[in-house]
Amino acid sequence: MHIQIQKTELPKEKYTDESKLGFGSLFTDHMFIADYNEAQGWHDARIVPYQPFSIDPASPVLHYSLEVFEGLKAYRYENGEVGLFRPELNCARLNQSAERMCLPQIDEALQLAAIETLVDLERDWVPSSSGTSLYIRPAMIGDGSRLGINKAQRHIFFIICSPSGSFYPNGIKPVRIHIEDRYVRAVIGGTGNVKTGGNYAASLLAAMKAKEKGFDQVLWLDGRENRNIEEVGAMNVMFVLDGKLVTPSLDGSILGGITRRSVLELAQSLGYQTVERAIPVDELFSAYHSGKLTEAFGVGTAAVISPIGELEYKGESILLGSTIGPVAKVLYDTLTGIQTGRLPDPYGWTHVVPRV
Ligand code: PLP
Ligand code: COI
Repeated sequence: MHIQIQKTELPKEKYTDESKLGFGSLFTDHMFIADYNEAQGWHDARIVPYQPFSIDPASPVLHYSLEVFEGLKAYRYENGEVGLFRPELNCARLNQSAERMCLPQIDEALQLAAIETLVDLERDWVPSSSGTSLYIRPAMIGDGSRLGINKAQRHIFFIICSPSGSFYPNGIKPVRIHIEDRYVRAVIGGTGNVKTGGNYAASLLAAMKAKEKGFDQVLWLDGRENRNIEEVGAMNVMFVLDGKLVTPSLDGSILGGITRRSVLELAQSLGYQTVERAIPVDELFSAYHSGKLTEAFGVGTAAVISPIGELEYKGESILLGSTIGPVAKVLYDTLTGIQTGRLPDPYGWTHVVPRV
């Protein structure tokens, strides 16, 4: 599908200090949009100046959260080129999420072409200092003018880009995590394993309460028994337990993170033993007390690899130190080295954005 490009006549002023880039609050000059209805399919693919768009006040996205999204990053390589990391996995996951939410499929080749064309146009916005990147947010929403609970009549797929630094305000400093014992995020059969806005809306209250107590995020337990570790608000979680890299298995209620998958694959090829299984919260505490739990960290596109310094549950804490642990450090250096083109990529994960 041809992508029409309308360039802005009023380019924004670019950031001057990359060290001050936070996460997701600054946007580039342009955005991608395409429309869908059953009669026409996807049509009018276009890149336009970044701007608000109008939707009907009765739109199902506003009332019933008919929405899915993705998150990936473009990195500046030392040779000046710009690269994406396994973008085809984000395109595939968007369609898996869309299927669960009764939204239309969008050809993965079109998604990738839209990302490439937009990032190519915005390549001057991709920052270069360590820990920075251009965060890319594709999303699809259901639009229409009927309040009945039904599939949407129209859909909009759009992509916006945000030059970003660290997801957590304290950078790579270990985060403090509250293990939630009252609210739940997802249950098997629900939507926890897809990337849809409602999951995050439902998580907000617990996250706000945890923030009031000084925690950075919430670690969710399974929704049925409140017993097994699931994931953190915006990242999957991993532990070094008895020398092995252990992470909750994808049982249907947690997001199958692309960083999770990549870190597991990397760890295996670096010779670590990896285990995907249920991890009861009690086991974590007894492993901590017996010295078997040596590291905990979150993994995600926005969060990269974030060491966890404290895990608090019902007033008791696991304290894991104020610096990144040795396993997380090796994985962080290798993963970010590949993502930014500093290290060779034997896995074929990097995807240089073509210049048009
Ligand atoms: N879990 C949740 C709930 C997330 O929002 C994210 C972020 O995308 C992740 C895990 C990590 O997924 P990925 O590594 O694909 O970014
Ligand atoms: C990401 O890592 O891409 C995320 O989606 C995090 C976001 C929910 C803030």
